[in-house]
Amino acid sequence: MSGHGDPIPMTSSACGPLTGTAEVPGDKSISHRSLILGALSVGETTIEGLLEGQDVLDTAKAMRAFGAEVTEHGGGRWSVQGVGVGGFAEPSQVIDCGNSGTGVRLIMGAMATSPITATFTGDASLNGRPMARVTDPLALFGCAAVGRSGGRLPMTLVGAREPVPVRYTVPVPSAQVKSAVLLAGLNAPGKTVVIEAEATRDHTERMLAGFGAEITVEEKDEGRVITLTGQPELCPQHIEVPRDTSSAAFPVCAALVVPGSDVLVPGIGLNPTRAGLFTTLREMGADLTYENEREEGGEPVADLRARFSPNLKGIEVPPERAASMIDEYPVLSVVAAFAEGLTVMRGVKELRVKESDRIEAMATGLRANGIDVEDGPDWWTVTGKGHGNVPGGALVASHLDHRIAMSFLILGMASQESVRVDDGGPIATSFPIFEPLMQGLGARIARAGA
Ligand code: S3P
Repeated sequence: MSGHGDPIPMTSSACGPLTGTAEVPGDKSISHRSLILGALSVGETTIEGLLEGQDVLDTAKAMRAFGAEVTEHGGGRWSVQGVGVGGFAEPSQVIDCGNSGTGVRLIMGAMATSPITATFTGDASLNGRPMARVTDPLALFGCAAVGRSGGRLPMTLVGAREPVPVRYTVPVPSAQVKSAVLLAGLNAPGKTVVIEAEATRDHTERMLAGFGAEITVEEKDEGRVITLTGQPELCPQHIEVPRDTSSAAFPVCAALVVPGSDVLVPGIGLNPTRAGLFTTLREMGADLTYENEREEGGEPVADLRARFSPNLKGIEVPPERAASMIDEYPVLSVVAAFAEGLTVMRGVKELRVKESDRIEAMATGLRANGIDVEDGPDWWTVTGKGHGNVPGGALVASHLDHRIAMSFLILGMASQESVRVDDGGPIATSFPIFEPLMQGLGARIARAGA
């Protein structure tokens, strides 16, 4: 279940400096993959720092339904007793992935080459999102899918009895699609090849290698060519989930726009396939520094230090950077509202098929709060008002989208009038401690006001 009950209206008001240390929870992408790859291994995978957000809890439940033993030990420690590649059992119930596109698409890939049938559903947001982008390539392995019109959930997948390996060029920049194909390739004999023209987050490739799969990545003219040898025995791992780069974006951006702020966000991954927002903010003139740069689990990590930045400038975000900050455009658009001049965001069509149409949701909400926004099919612009000049004062709809809700709560922290969000409930999907964490830094967020 999405766990989504009654709406939780929230109000965010101008506050004094945000100060202190913001320890954000585990990375959502890596948490999903830890559970799924743990379930596909033979033996016990142990996980520390798992994100206990609803999206990941729904994936944990799904892995149990496919036969893995998933145990919570408290304090972010979990273990998964895997069933091995090809060992998934047929679930006896519908798999409800709640709000999570990553959860459903990766799990579809993981079951697509096993001789089992499973039916998937989700909340109103997930059931409106396109699934053909994964079921089309999964059909090449021999997996059949029947869903609602437009390739929407609820949807039943009949896994391939005799899967064949595939060679597939991902038509949209999507780590979820790439990952679904790779996970399906695990149980196909021979080599499955996935080609992506633009690099997207590479956690699946890195983690598959860590679990002992034979996987190579080559940079060629056609793009990144990923070759996976099927039917490996995956070896259980101990995983320490790094803190979530996308969640770190919220306290970082809040500190940049709230006068006097100085916030440390420790232990954040700077994997180039994820960290595009921080590069962009620095180009806008943000006082954002990387302290204590180091390597953890083979990934570049730093403590981020963000200070109030009164002289932010609008910029044109290079479209080729989009994949590395795709989840951060909503909060970037909030920072852009406090900058001087125009921020231009191009090559971002994918934003229209996230948990909500994020261009539409942000454009509507920013306009209601006195900010000029223009948008087209794959671009949008925000005309910044400059620090101290953002009116605020409006009620916005979060559209079952955690990042829309959190972005507007950041807007309210530095606008002239409070900003209200109709439903902050979805925040629990990815960042369940957002409210107390931000309040601990000095934010004024209250549960009321819609
Ligand atoms: C994710 C990939 C991205 C991202 C999502 C997480 C993942 O989606 O927006 O939040 O973990 O693979 P797409 O694959 O649709 O780009």
